[in-house]
Amino acid sequence: MPTNVLIAFYSRNGSTEALANAVADGARAEGAELRLRRAREFVGPETMAKAQGWAENAARMNRAYEAPTEADAEWADAIVFGTPTRFGAVTAELKAYIDSLGGLWFQGKLVGKVGSVFTSTSTTHGGNESTLISLYNPMAHLGLIIVPLGYADPVLFRAGTPYGASSVSGQNNNPPSADDLEVARFQGRRVAQVAGALKAARVTETKG
Ligand SMILES: Cc1cc2nc3c(=O)[nH]c(=O)nc-3n(C[C@H](O)[C@H](O)[C@H](O)COP(=O)(O)O)c2cc1C
Repeated sequence: MPTNVLIAFYSRNGSTEALANAVADGARAEGAELRLRRAREFVGPETMAKAQGWAENAARMNRAYEAPTEADAEWADAIVFGTPTRFGAVTAELKAYIDSLGGLWFQGKLVGKVGSVFTSTSTTHGGNESTLISLYNPMAHLGLIIVPLGYADPVLFRAGTPYGASSVSGQNNNPPSADDLEVARFQGRRVAQVAGALKAARVTETKG
């Protein structure tokens, strides 16, 4: 039985999207089935017009990825959240999706699934770790088994954080580096491995 991995992300300039695809590659390499979903805009067209490319990027990504749903979270054995940093924390867009999971939370439907998180900032110390850790709070409330990266792969000594993959886009909106993407692929592999082991244990338990 394949392991189902949902990657629910928001992105406006493409950095978090690139990390999401690298996480997906890593999870696929472990034989997982993937759903990549982009949270929809929370602000109006007047805000999206404030920076060059935002509206166009959003339109492109909304064609490429469906919006995440409750059904996606229920289907998943692992949920990996991806968000750009907004003032040191999660975007309203991704948070709105997380908040939409209240019904599943109430029924305990997400308890025991795996949770993990990645982010992108524009500056090195602009809050990548605080954003990642801020998402540990809702993951704990949902009952997700949080999978961090630690320094479990040598690439973590060059990029990323022990809390999750990250990238720094700078003032020119630079895409994630090769090392950032390697960390993200490692995150995907690790999440799929842990979720797969938990799923196998549940199946054995049910049969036993
Ligand atoms: C409203 C707003 C708040 C932001 N806050 C931060 C911040 O606190 N720290 C930071 O380094 N970058 C901040 N950024 C920049 C984005 O996090 C950064 O450009 C990120 O790489 C964008 O990811 P994306 O390419 O997936 O959209 C902010 C951007 C916006 C629009």
